[in-house]
Formats: sequence, structure tokens, C-alpha cells
Amino acid sequence: MHNPHYSSLGNRLTAPVITRLMKQALENPDLVSLAAGFTDTPSLPVEAVQKTAQKLLDDPSKTEVLQYGTNAGRPGLRKALADRLTRSDHREAPYDAEEVLITNGSQQALFLALSTLCDPGDIVLVESPTYFVFLENARALGLEVRSLPDTDDPEQLFQQTVTLLEDLQAKGTMARVKAVYLVSYFSNPSSASRSEAEKEALAKALANCHCHPPIIEDAAYRDLYYQKPWPARSILSLEAFASFPCLYLGTTTKPFATGLKIGSLHCPHQEWREKILHLKGNEDFGTANFTQAIVEEVLSTGAYDGQVEKLRSLYRKKAEILHQALIDEGLRHEGWRWEGPKGGLYLWLEAPSGFDASPESPFFQKAVDEGVLFVPGSLCMASDHRKHNTVRLSFGSTSPENLEVGARRFAKAWRQMA
Ligand SMILES: Cc1ncc(COP(=O)(O)O)c(C=O)c1O
Repeated sequence: MHNPHYSSLGNRLTAPVITRLMKQALENPDLVSLAAGFTDTPSLPVEAVQKTAQKLLDDPSKTEVLQYGTNAGRPGLRKALADRLTRSDHREAPYDAEEVLITNGSQQALFLALSTLCDPGDIVLVESPTYFVFLENARALGLEVRSLPDTDDPEQLFQQTVTLLEDLQAKGTMARVKAVYLVSYFSNPSSASRSEAEKEALAKALANCHCHPPIIEDAAYRDLYYQKPWPARSILSLEAFASFPCLYLGTTTKPFATGLKIGSLHCPHQEWREKILHLKGNEDFGTANFTQAIVEEVLSTGAYDGQVEKLRSLYRKKAEILHQALIDEGLRHEGWRWEGPKGGLYLWLEAPSGFDASPESPFFQKAVDEGVLFVPGSLCMASDHRKHNTVRLSFGSTSPENLEVGARRFAKAWRQMA
């Protein structure tokens, strides 16, 4: 058989490293995976989805839920998500539901957004560390990824971002900066959140250097706070971003049901939003109408809020179990550093400097041999800023017992290296 002549995109595609890691986990049922970014399966909202599906299907006036929907998504769902964001951002003036589009997870929104903005060779600015699937997307699209300064001090963030932009300016590549990507609430992978002052420092640094690229704020974990919401408003409500095209990504997958795959984007910039919508039209002409209808209904009945409330306390407990198990294993005494998260699904660990936890390292192999899998933190960093002594541990899908087993195996692998 002849091989197809692939597009430049087709030629760039290779299996993501994470796929190999996941395959390893699946091939070995005894392996405890602290790598998968999955949510907790036993607590998925089976009853709420069952009841809602039945209710929709029992009502003859609602048969349309099994019909194609519109490209932009169900108006009721768009309105419900716009209203939720209005409340989260403590706004008096409500967000306009017209600016919200429903997508097949926020992942689709991300890919559509990048595809409408970037050509191969263009530059995107990301935090370090960042969501590794974004890095894979950027690679597939042939983009150059540059890291924003790794600091949470607004003044330093401002100064160092200006230095980065001046460097791009000096090299004549500033015009190629096509997007800035932020994961600013209980981030994957670091669990860190951005204050308004940090976001504003970034906006000011860009504006100072006459650089106004689109800003993409990914808020996938915003609802998964453990005790209280992160107080910072989104970029859509911050005056410092008024002159930037802004895109805010939300999802109902992590806080409700990953398998329904309902995400959303909020884009006040009409032209950009329309382009994203046209591309979505080419791709799928609308997200599954039935799963949208289910999410729309559970948002209105309160079942969604009940579920997310339950998940908040579940993930708080799981985070605590893993955190404590690592402390009990003595990792803190041996120079490992990490923060107990306040939301999200991850623990971000830094080993003593100089230690190598990359996918090719003896430590990674030793951990697999001991029966535990983790995401090497270097996979979450662009090539200009790789810290090989970092590790992402996820606790979303792993049972409490296995979190303790996983922590023990992880520490055992470490002790054998030290
Ligand atoms: C930071 C971040 N953004 C976006 C996504 C995509 O999520 P979904 O497509 O389920 O909304 C994920 C999934 O893990 C994520 O961690």
C-alpha cells in the first residue's frame, strides 16, 4: 500500500510522551498511577445523569435533545454558563451569553483558538510549568513556545516579562507572538493560582512593550476549590486586559462528569469568536446536543452544584492523604519541596536541585519498577525552561489506599537513588 503524502501538520504529529506513560500504566495492573489526570470514577454523578436523561426523554416536547443542535451550543446552557461566570467574577453587569460558545471539552476550545491564531513558526508565551497537552498542541501546530518568568511576585513578573519581550523585540520576533496562555486557577500541573496583581503585571508588561496578543485564560479547575473560591476575577473583568483580545475557557468535565465532555469558551472579541465558530462548524457543526441538554438541566436543578460540592471535599481529602503520606515517608526532610494544594487535582513536587526525574532518568524507571507512575515535571515545561527535578502527582482517580501505596513506592524509588 502507498503511504499518503501528509500535510505539514500530519508530518509533525508524533505520539505524545504521555500516551506512552499511560500505556505503561494500563499494561501493568499492579502499577499505581499518580500520572493520569482523570477524575474520581466511583463518585461520578450516575444517579443525577440517569434521572436527568430519563426526564428529558420522557418529555415528548423535548425530543429535540436527540436532534443535532446549533453550532454555538444550546442557548439555555450558554446563558447558564454566562450567569455563573458573572457570579464568580462578582460582576454587576452580566456577561452576554452571545459571547459564550459550547465546545467538546475546553480542550477543543483551546485547539480551535490556537488554530485560528497561529501559523507554523509563530510564538506562544506560556507559564512554566504549564498544561502539557497545550505544549503538545503547540508542537503539532509547529509553534515556538517561550516561557514567561517563573515568579509570583508581581513586580518581578512585570520586570522579567519586559526583559523577555525586549529580547524578542531585539531579535525581530515580537510580531510572531500570537497568544499568551495562562492556567490561573489551581493549575494543572502546579495547583498554583494567579492573583489579580500578577495578571495585571503581565498585562502591563505586554502593553508597555506595545505587544497586544490574544490572552487565553484556562480556568479548567476554577470550580474545584477545596474551601473557598480563588478570589481573583478572570481576565475578562480586569481593566488591565481591556485592550487585549481575551478568551476565557471553562469546563464542566472536571467538576461534574468528564465523560459528558462539555466545555465552553467566552470570547468578547466578536471577529475572533466568529472565526472560532466557523472552524468549529467545519470540524463538528456543534457539540453533542444531548450531553449539553443534560448539563443545562443539572445546572438548573442544583444537581451540578451538589456534585461539585461533594467533589470539593473528596479531592481535599485525597490531596491531604497524598500530602501526608509523602511527609510520613520523610521526603520533606530529604529536601523535597511542595505546597499542600487549595484546589485542583495535583501535587507539584520539586526534588533537591540537580536531581533528575525526567522520563529518561534512572529515577523514573526505578519508580516504574517499584510500581508507581508519575508525570515528570519537565514534560510540562517548554524547552527554554526545563527543570528536570520536578514531578506532578495526581490524586484524582487513585483510591485513598492506593495513594498511600503510591507514595510509599515513590519514596522507596527515591531512597534507592539517593
Ligand atoms: C488545564 C487544562 N485545560 C483544559 C483541559 C481539558 O479539559 P476538558 O476538555 O475535559 O474540558 C484539561 C484537562 O485535563 C486541563 O488540565
